[in-house]
Amino acid sequence: MLRTNDCGELRAANIGQEVTLTGWVHRQRDHGGITFLDLRDRYGIVQIVCDPAKAGMEIVQNVRSEWVVQVKGIVHKRPDGSENPRMATGDVEIEATELVVMNPAKALPFMINKEEDTDEAVRLKYRYLDLRRERMQRNLQLRHNVIKFIRDFLDRFGFLEIETPMLFKTTPEGARDFLVPSRLQPGSFYALPQSPQQLKQLLMVAGLDKYFQIARCFRDEDLRGDRQLEFTQLDLEMSFVERDDILDLVEALFTEMVEKIIPGKRLLSSPWPRLTYTESVERYGSDKPDMRFGMELKRLDGIFAASEFMVFKNALAGGGAIKCLVAPGCSEYSRRDVDALTELVKEAGAKGLATLALSPEGTRGTASKFVTLEELAAVQALTGAKTGDLILIVADQIAVVNKCLNLLRLHLRDKLNLADPNVLAFAFVVDFPMFEYNEEDKKWDAAHHPFTMPKMEDLPKFETDPASILSDAYDMVLNGYETASGSIRIHRSDIQQKVFGLLGLPEEEIMAKFGHMIEAFEYGAPPHGGIAPGIDRLVMIFADEPNIREVIAFPKNQSGKDMMADAPSPASPKQLDELKLKLNLEKKENKG
Ligand code: AMO
Ligand code: AMP
Repeated sequence: MLRTNDCGELRAANIGQEVTLTGWVHRQRDHGGITFLDLRDRYGIVQIVCDPAKAGMEIVQNVRSEWVVQVKGIVHKRPDGSENPRMATGDVEIEATELVVMNPAKALPFMINKEEDTDEAVRLKYRYLDLRRERMQRNLQLRHNVIKFIRDFLDRFGFLEIETPMLFKTTPEGARDFLVPSRLQPGSFYALPQSPQQLKQLLMVAGLDKYFQIARCFRDEDLRGDRQLEFTQLDLEMSFVERDDILDLVEALFTEMVEKIIPGKRLLSSPWPRLTYTESVERYGSDKPDMRFGMELKRLDGIFAASEFMVFKNALAGGGAIKCLVAPGCSEYSRRDVDALTELVKEAGAKGLATLALSPEGTRGTASKFVTLEELAAVQALTGAKTGDLILIVADQIAVVNKCLNLLRLHLRDKLNLADPNVLAFAFVVDFPMFEYNEEDKKWDAAHHPFTMPKMEDLPKFETDPASILSDAYDMVLNGYETASGSIRIHRSDIQQKVFGLLGLPEEEIMAKFGHMIEAFEYGAPPHGGIAPGIDRLVMIFADEPNIREVIAFPKNQSGKDMMADAPSPASPKQLDELKLKLNLEKKENKG
């Protein structure tokens, strides 16, 4: 037996026992001829006392950080006054009788025992060392707990966990596909699934009724803090359900999860708010609002309908809107502070930022000389702004106004610490538009995906007004992040064809890409729907991490590279030959 106990479990009750421990040397100190080793494994750290003068113990003087050692010794009470209440094992220490070096280690590229800022690139190159750190081990443990909880919960409700293939056909979720060339069918390609969307719907046609999967998804898109090329969803689908059956289940799942396994966090509200897309955008300027704090946007179109201020007048005359938010206690912001906010909205497309500072000395700000006393009183009545506050106004096309005020709201959240980091403000946003117009390609795109059910009452609008068609799609949002998406699906092939038709897919392309779906729906497809929470994003928020990389064991860097293994990397001529592929790199270089 290489060890009798782990490094985290010894307590006063173990005093007097002989133990054998294994682990990494976390730290070593020499104290008047005695060497103290902190020995670490996944379970914790324990102090080992070594006397190099004892037979067989001389070797301790050679031992360095991160060497792997085995220690045999007796558990002792630490001398009075030298207990360490910050360590779980801080009441005891091990008096070593034997020390075996199981494996030495080279000097490391960074210290494991210091949470100092190690360069990101170095952390990712030596990810296996980075993962030794307590923070990373805690995050991976939390991720495990979350996934285990999901499995147990859904099992209780009769769900089946079913694996679906990675080598499949394109499943559109709005990103680019990763293609895998086929050796057996040269010139043909599998697409890695952007999600198991089609397959889970086919499982419903198959009568499996309640399906879930901890599913890997692959999307060739630009990376951001909350986006990776491959990530994990809790993918879920149910038959014979309406929207609220799915939302209720997901709400129950995460409510119980937070109570049971997310330490230090609490829900803002139970039940969770459910707001329509239109309402969410109107109140927060965003379809993924951070609802931990108020600061809602207010419409000023009515109040300024007769305003002489050109900025307001022009916006309204151009079919735009005027909205504001109130920054509490910010009336004394300096010129520089206000300029910084103005820069922020200008970068997002606004022409400027109008301000009303309700200073105790009187109203100041760029809009103050254009706003009448009556208008100001009306704005205050509408917003609740009081002396000491700063009113920030954007006038423009409504999409620009919402985008800018959402940015300002989130900026001020961080600057003024308005959001409690320990609060989880879950909410559902429902009734999304079905289609978005793609200005670049001059065509309609599915706002969620093409399998989403349009609202039945909107079906006649396919011919007249696609922009106003709503769908039975919904998102779960949390603290300003989109953490899940889903919808009730189309289960009738005539409606599915109608949607593909509006998306402008030619008949042959529809049949080539989705013929199997359309055919399947002709063999008795039940009404069905589902949702897919993003595990990485949720665990990131639960762990207070700023980036999903921190909760993924082996993530890609910002440019989509695995720094550790140096992937992607060139294929050998033999591999390319087997796949009947020829590279055409020069052409690209000439162009670029
Ligand atoms: P959607 O594409 O909205 O829906 O994805 C669902 C959730 O997956 C997470 N997510 C990501 N996480 C990390 N990196 C990414 N690149 C990434 N992209 C998405 C988000 C998101 O809310 N098949 C549908 C679901 C359904 O309709 O049932 C789908 O995949 O948390
Ligand atoms: P101007 O008339 O362009 O000098 O702008 C007067 C003030 O209104 C300045 O503080 C601008 O930043 C602000 N402003 C300009 N355009 C807008 C707009 N579209 N919305 C809100 N404020 C604006």
